[in-house]
Amino acid sequence: MHANDATSAADTATLQTLIQSLPADFQWGSATSAAQIEGAAREDGKGESIWDRFCAQPGRIKDGSNIDVACDHYHRYPEDIQRMEWLGLEAYRFSFSWPRVRPQGRGAWNEAGFAFYDRLIDELLAAGIKPNATLYHWDLPQALDDSIGGLLSRDVAPLFAEYAAEVARRFGDRLATIATLNEPWCSATLGYETAQFAPGHTNRAEAYQVSHHLLMMHGAAMQAMRAVGSKAQLGIVLNHTPSFPADPLNEDDRRAARIDDGTNVRWYMDPVFRGQYPADIVEHLGADAPRIHEGDLALIQQPLDFLGINFYTRSVLNGRQQFVTPPGELGFTDMGWEIYPQALTQHLLRITREYTPPPIVITENGMANADRIVDGRVPDAARIAYLRGHLEALAQAVALGADVRGYFYWSLLDNFEWNSGYEKRFGLFHVDYATQERLAKDSAHWYRHLIEGFKAARSSAG
Ligand code: FCB
Repeated sequence: MHANDATSAADTATLQTLIQSLPADFQWGSATSAAQIEGAAREDGKGESIWDRFCAQPGRIKDGSNIDVACDHYHRYPEDIQRMEWLGLEAYRFSFSWPRVRPQGRGAWNEAGFAFYDRLIDELLAAGIKPNATLYHWDLPQALDDSIGGLLSRDVAPLFAEYAAEVARRFGDRLATIATLNEPWCSATLGYETAQFAPGHTNRAEAYQVSHHLLMMHGAAMQAMRAVGSKAQLGIVLNHTPSFPADPLNEDDRRAARIDDGTNVRWYMDPVFRGQYPADIVEHLGADAPRIHEGDLALIQQPLDFLGINFYTRSVLNGRQQFVTPPGELGFTDMGWEIYPQALTQHLLRITREYTPPPIVITENGMANADRIVDGRVPDAARIAYLRGHLEALAQAVALGADVRGYFYWSLLDNFEWNSGYEKRFGLFHVDYATQERLAKDSAHWYRHLIEGFKAARSSAG
């Protein structure tokens, strides 16, 4: 037993809060994505993705790294599943790589690629872990970018729907959930407006056109998966970073926060749940607002079985719509993101009130920390505090009426953090990239004990 003894008073109290507030069938999980962990970038017929291409462009990735090997999970998945079992995970969220299973994004399927996910899913099930899949976690087939302009083309939606239907047909009876998209805001804004993500464009009109096509991909995929009779629960995963005015009494600051909320939260929630884009943001965008065809919004507004929310931090804005450094009373993560768990409680309650969503799952939450191995351990007390704070905030939201069914810590392993490369470590397991050795951090021990305690309470109650 490590120094992070989960039976300390604080953690007993946390556990009690969770046991009292969360439903007995609450799912404990952890999340990853294909591009960030798999490696095997050119193996068994995998096609190139826009992230393979982006990494090859000088200056795009802070440490100059790429995803050729990443965590080598493609080869090491059996031992990684053993780690999930050791943690006591009930659910694991991973993503399919579209170019691995359909290298050109259209045309022939790659059976070797499907075989990998087939093995992964079977071994997860054998370990008693529910597989939760995401179809699009940012790794578009490069061939589609080359042939049709990728996400800039409306034609991407029916192609994505074909891929979704194929996954649902093959795996729909073994997957617990299938999410269409992960964080479309990031694909659109970071990929097409700020150039931080692949494919690295800097054009706001493109970003909003892409956001519309992503939402059409979501709608078309939902329809296609329902049509093949998939048994998996179907939904979408959105990143929500609640916006706060720097000075709540300043009207300009409040307006800036409303616009930021509109572009981040409402731009995606309103079409999915109400079949319309928020009017104030359409006006704010002016000529950069997307071109929409008749019927598009009806396609986007499909009934969902669950809503995935990824929550990390909040934003604070002033009247010039600029992000200001927040007070950070609980500190900042290694990404520079403020630790502000109470925003999670408020936000879950707001979403519940304003949208009447289906059951919510926290599909990502976690922190990057400057972790070091010290005497064979990774003493990441800051991550334990982050976890505790956010789980308590989540429990509070549930106690006040939010319907949250599960929690996935981001991430299982340290991995490729997009344009930050391998320098930012989010994992419960430390990864030594030279040897591919994994080491459970103190937070992994903490999470394991928490899950164990929760399960013990559940079985003694049941
Ligand atoms: C989210 C992404 C995930 C990971 C975390 C830190 O935006 O979905 O892949 O990079 O942030």
